[in-house]
Amino acid sequence: MTTTADYTERIPNNVDLHEDRRLQRALESWQPNFLNWWQTMGPSLPTQDVYLRTAVNVGRQGWAHFGHVPMKEYRWGIFLAERDPGRTIGFGQHKGEPPWIKVPGEYRAELQRLIVIQGDTEPASVEQQRNLGATAPSLYDLRNLFQVNVEEGRHLWAMVYLLHAYFGREGREEAEELLHRNSGSVESPRILGAFNEETPDWLSFYMFTYFTDRDGKYQLGTLKESALDPLSRTCEFMLKEESHHMFVGTTGIDRVVERTAQVMIENDTDDVAGYGVIPLPVVQKYLNFHYSVSLDLFGGETSTNVANYYTAGLKGRWSEDRRKDDHLLTDDAFLVDALVDGEIGQTEVAALLGLNTDLRRAYIGDCQNGVNRWNKILAEAGLPQRLKLPHVAFNRRVGAFAEIEASPEGEKLSAEEWSERLGQWLPNDVDKTYVRSLMQPVHERGKIAAWIAPPRNGINGKPFDYDYVHLT
Ligand SMILES: [Fe+2]
Ligand SMILES: [Fe+2]
Repeated sequence: MTTTADYTERIPNNVDLHEDRRLQRALESWQPNFLNWWQTMGPSLPTQDVYLRTAVNVGRQGWAHFGHVPMKEYRWGIFLAERDPGRTIGFGQHKGEPPWIKVPGEYRAELQRLIVIQGDTEPASVEQQRNLGATAPSLYDLRNLFQVNVEEGRHLWAMVYLLHAYFGREGREEAEELLHRNSGSVESPRILGAFNEETPDWLSFYMFTYFTDRDGKYQLGTLKESALDPLSRTCEFMLKEESHHMFVGTTGIDRVVERTAQVMIENDTDDVAGYGVIPLPVVQKYLNFHYSVSLDLFGGETSTNVANYYTAGLKGRWSEDRRKDDHLLTDDAFLVDALVDGEIGQTEVAALLGLNTDLRRAYIGDCQNGVNRWNKILAEAGLPQRLKLPHVAFNRRVGAFAEIEASPEGEKLSAEEWSERLGQWLPNDVDKTYVRSLMQPVHERGKIAAWIAPPRNGINGKPFDYDYVHLT
């Protein structure tokens, strides 16, 4: 059997790439830069191959193909969800019209900006997670890390495809920039704050995939409503992959809580730091941090830009089609979080201006589900402790509460009180050092680190002790 050099083989796609020579060549010249970025900024742990899911098409059978593959040979493809021929624009001034197949000139700059911001987050998280392989608690977890990483790489491809296909030379330049900015870089950082934070340990990784990937879910959910049909279809397929990332976070924290609860009961103590597991107050601090920086990703409580995006049809609301209103929102009002006379409160604004708050609230409701689930694990273990989401004003650096400091209970604090008590609420050096001290790699088949419980199930019906990763 010969391997064909056909480009459509090298970049699997369902967008008929071979029919557009120019686009094909443009992506062909971007590909080595992507691979170079992957080699230098992607996972640093050397591996032979990993049991990965690869999207080979979008249909029910095609999209999740499992097998051992060397990561640098992973087939990052371009996949859009099937076109819905009956689709009409669901909101804004173009409501009821057919969706756009091309980018309208008047919205070009805004659409390009939205795609670049989304695109920038995808490689950023790969960079943030690049050294985690060295301390994986099991081969199962290591495999999940790499799965998340290759799919974020694919999401970068998804956004780069849109930039190349619809935004001409400027789009190609932006695609290059997506590989040049780096998470945490002083000269050219990633665009959004949370994507320049470190992910130095596995508790952070689970919190990141629970809270920050979930922000991604909500952002993609608004872009899936877009009048620009290729953007909508791209995001719809990305959302399918994204759910696995959040699964990794949800069940990762489940397993941390489960293990800590076991050790608390076995030793009849809350103070389990000496027993090699993560104390619940430390879990709470990590939760406080990742939740609050993820809330910032939704932007200010009010935004005229976002109002304009909505009216123009560029970006909708979460579950737009399930909302029982006129989908224009020109006459509606909405209560948003605000500083009222310097105090934490709410204020009424035009509904269109409050769309960031609307999206953040949907996200907060979703985050609460995880907390309930972790608390159920504690309750079933017979423990009285509970985890909780901090107040929306806690540790915010963007929006109405950026100017003030507040406790997790939502009590306003002076700068002094805040700096005194900060270490009780956010991971301090002692917490971080302790968590890092637990991060000893377990790369042996069927074994797991002592600070986390094993998963209930393996991947794709395989057992926990499957050889998910072959190290070099
Ligand atoms: Fe993603
Ligand atoms: Fe993700």
